[in-house]
Amino acid sequence: MSGIRSVTVDSVYDSRGRATVEAEVTLESGAHGRAAAPSGASTGVHEVAAFPAGGVPEALRTVRAVLAPALLGLDAFDLSAVDQVIHTTDGTPNLSRVGGNSATAISVATALSVAGERGVPLWKVLARPGLDGTKFPAIVGNCLNGGRHAIGGPDIQEFIAYAEDPDPARSIRAALRVHTLVGDELHRRYPTVALGRGDEGGWVAAIGNVEALELLSNACAKARDELHIAVHPGLDLAASEFFHDGRYRYKDRNLDLEGQVAFVAQLVDQYDLRYLEDPLDQEAFEGFAEVTRAVGNRALVVGDDLYVTDSHRLERGIERGSSNAVLIKVNQVGTLTDTLRTVDLAATRGIATVTSHRSGEVPDSWLTHVAVGTGARALKCGLLGGERMAKLNELLRLGRATGSSNHAR
Ligand code: PGA
Ligand code: ZN
Repeated sequence: MSGIRSVTVDSVYDSRGRATVEAEVTLESGAHGRAAAPSGASTGVHEVAAFPAGGVPEALRTVRAVLAPALLGLDAFDLSAVDQVIHTTDGTPNLSRVGGNSATAISVATALSVAGERGVPLWKVLARPGLDGTKFPAIVGNCLNGGRHAIGGPDIQEFIAYAEDPDPARSIRAALRVHTLVGDELHRRYPTVALGRGDEGGWVAAIGNVEALELLSNACAKARDELHIAVHPGLDLAASEFFHDGRYRYKDRNLDLEGQVAFVAQLVDQYDLRYLEDPLDQEAFEGFAEVTRAVGNRALVVGDDLYVTDSHRLERGIERGSSNAVLIKVNQVGTLTDTLRTVDLAATRGIATVTSHRSGEVPDSWLTHVAVGTGARALKCGLLGGERMAKLNELLRLGRATGSSNHAR
């Protein structure tokens, strides 16, 4: 038993320069943890509310007046009881009184305070049965941005390098190499055009989906040849963002459900995609099942906006065979306990988990520990920018600490 002595919250900025909530939890022993929550741009409609209607100022006021006092004296080692009090004190189904970001920041800060008291890394506090910190996630690395994260780029939100190796240093290296090669090729093709980078550090260029995929696929092939590391193309279509009135509306095509299923299945075949996130709208449980049947086990078919890390929605997807993987974002659902419920459901039903950042991130590294502690199949945290690198570098450290990574760059 280690009682919570204080919970303080304040505002800090995310990587888009927008305010978010940071929490600090201190235990009777003096051990403490601090964490901030990230924010999305292409948020799913079924996510909890990141903030109350009055934004960060209202979140801070409510936590200070109501939630922090309710948490005092609780046993931080009993994280599910702490998280339960967050929900009961909030009292709404979607955390709209204290805000999902307050819930995430406090829940993670509590787990970090426990890690501090026990003198262990955070992943150990979260570790699921049988996991000893030597199983490392593949890297889902965003190389080219479009959609909501890069206005003026392709309609598809993310062109991804999916790098898989038991040694996390090798996976990270391969994904970074693909990012560099994509940039080099864009410079070569468009020498006089200014190139930018999107919210998650991927390149932004005014090119179409097909050209972007071709560039990505060539860069993956080159990186494989150079490094002999398994790295293949992938996509996060974030299809809800361009699904309107029953149709998938790209700049160059307009598809109904059947057309979209056939289109993505053909992309998987043609480009040997190994990762396919949100190929359909966030309500399309049956359509997802069609995609999953068409793709089989050749690619991870990942539900993000479809499930919003919610165990009830994942249960619906499992019943229908909607996907073989689920994206895990703590602040989509609120607390670590909610997140672990979904992770455990996935594990018992043979569904892979992909631990994910948000497009507006904070330079914390707790996300990496969620991935390692839950045995995630992959970690999706972007490739460039300090807030993304904080997570990759933490993975490098964890790899070295366990002796799983001997790879010098
Ligand atoms: P976000 O989306 O902008 O909601 O963080 C990222 C994603 O779709 O994976
Ligand atoms: Zn997504």
